[in-house]
Amino acid sequence: MKAHTPLVIGNWKMNPATVGEARKLFLDIRKALGRKNRQTVVAVAPPAPFLSELERLSPSQRMALAGQDIFFEQTGAYTGEISLPMLKSVGATAVIVGHSERRARGETDADIYKDIQAIIKAQVTAIVCVGERERDTQGNYYTVVETQLRAALKAVPKAKLGQLVVAYEPVWAIGTGKVATPEDVYEMKLFIQKVIVGQFGRPALKKVRIVYGGSVKPDNAASILNVGRVDGFLVGGASLKAKDFVAIIDHAETYAKTLA
Ligand code: PGA
Repeated sequence: MKAHTPLVIGNWKMNPATVGEARKLFLDIRKALGRKNRQTVVAVAPPAPFLSELERLSPSQRMALAGQDIFFEQTGAYTGEISLPMLKSVGATAVIVGHSERRARGETDADIYKDIQAIIKAQVTAIVCVGERERDTQGNYYTVVETQLRAALKAVPKAKLGQLVVAYEPVWAIGTGKVATPEDVYEMKLFIQKVIVGQFGRPALKKVRIVYGGSVKPDNAASILNVGRVDGFLVGGASLKAKDFVAIIDHAETYAKTLA
């Protein structure tokens, strides 16, 4: 099966503090990326208030913009929420959904299901995060990931699988520096593929990218790609440093060449 071209998404979370700093980070990344043609698809997910400013800086679409979360309703009396039409109108072509930091604040699989349905309907890419809180010795973490994944897959019609990215993000590895081993990443990738095949059949694997997130840094990116065989990364902390983020993208680019 032909492998996917890599996808690297920077999740800025609640950073940086001001639109001026966001602009600078975005421009630094763009500059470090240079003008070379790349196979790797790059996206950044800044805080929503910065999207429209960054959209103005990105006419070439060399770097796509993503939202960090949505509320599934279109408009209405939902104080504090951000809808998909709003994100789309300021340039987002993808949205992270079900991030563990959102789940920790009360988001359930049922909420995530509605969010994914809305994202798919709007022709936007859904980057759905799944991952266990801890690794036990009995392998219960597989059940956790399977439950989250099945709940998400129910929201995606077979014909729209190309809009789905699954991000395996073990919660214990997020922001902790404790990265999953490349072998563990590979095993989980195979497991996620098995669940997808069980639901949609083998051709689905050609459509859905599976990426890894959790303390990805320039010095561990190559082994996670080469051994873990994932289709890219969701990068938190390291995406806030233009040099590190682009170094990770460069590793993805090197990996992409081995796939040809
Ligand atoms: P991290 O975050 O790279 O800082 O561990 C990853 C994420 O939360 O998506």
